[in-house]
Amino acid sequence: MKTIFSGIQPSGVITLGNYIGAMKQFVELQNEYNCYFCIVDQHAITVPQDRLELRKNIRSLAALYLAVGIDPNKATLFIQSEVPAHAQAGWMLQCIAYIGELERMTQFKDKSAGKEAVSAGLLTYPPLMAADILLYSTDIVPVGEDQKQHIELTRDLAERFNKRYGEIFTIPEARIPKVGARIMSLAEPTKKMSKSDPNKKAFITLLDDAKTIEKKIKSAVTDSDGIIKHDKENKPGITNLLNIYSILANKTIDELQKEYEGKGYGEFKADLAQVIIDTLTPIQEKYYNLMESDLLDQVLDEGAEKANKVANKMLKKMENAMGLGRKRKK
Ligand code: TYM
Repeated sequence: MKTIFSGIQPSGVITLGNYIGAMKQFVELQNEYNCYFCIVDQHAITVPQDRLELRKNIRSLAALYLAVGIDPNKATLFIQSEVPAHAQAGWMLQCIAYIGELERMTQFKDKSAGKEAVSAGLLTYPPLMAADILLYSTDIVPVGEDQKQHIELTRDLAERFNKRYGEIFTIPEARIPKVGARIMSLAEPTKKMSKSDPNKKAFITLLDDAKTIEKKIKSAVTDSDGIIKHDKENKPGITNLLNIYSILANKTIDELQKEYEGKGYGEFKADLAQVIIDTLTPIQEKYYNLMESDLLDQVLDEGAEKANKVANKMLKKMENAMGLGRKRKK
């Protein structure tokens, strides 16, 4: 059975973009693969976080993973900082990464642009992400489009390590969905939907209530020609809404274009809002129940135990390959 690894940062709310680009795939993949899903809290501290908020967000993300349908009997769910091998392997991979290639990462450029103080962690984020993936001999990494460059760097680092120190890493591949890999902002549809957008109308969170979803979809930026047609160049707003609709309602773009021929944006938006509400309501019900149960801690404890076992084995291999520490008799 092939292995899958993916992670989500517990930094604030989780958006419909995270769900469509990543989580929805995870649920489908857990039946066919050996899956590890991680709450990457050490990635979240590359930018300042309030400690109480961070703790809350970690728990909340764990509950959301389960609420969207991750089954702890099939997949391993754990918190990154509870598996110390990630930071240890991350350091070793930092030592083979070049500053130039890290500075070329678009996420680093975006997040550091115009800032006076940029943490070193923001620059060395990709080798930590590579460690996450490589520790589990991962074959496939399901992610949205924005993570593609990081996976390419992970492959480069793995190949470099294998060449210098011996073949220990599996070279992973990104798995990016055909539709929905880049859900756009509702306010500026040429920009990615992002949880860190200061405009709250730009994204829908998995915990938004029905009224909020209706309002946000109603105010989503479109155009003035009144035709419901998929055209990324000229109609980015409607195209984004069509993509969301198509994925959540499991209908093709063609079917939707036919269904809404001659109909107005108002009707289309009202129906789309309902599709989103119908998707999120059962997730929210499960989420609120989970937040009050003891199940979360049990799942995370078991997940950390399992992940530690696998990750420590690879960490030892890395240390041996690089010559760190002492040779030990078993
Ligand atoms: P993060 O936390 O920003 O996002 C989590 C996942 O959601 C996807 N995503 C989107 N997909 C479609 N449309 C959008 N608007 C959208 N916004 C976010 C992301 O592509 C991602 O798959 N560096 C990663 C976390 C990470 C990781 C890993 C991922 C750390 N270690 C190892 C995979 C493997 C990140 O910041 O994702």
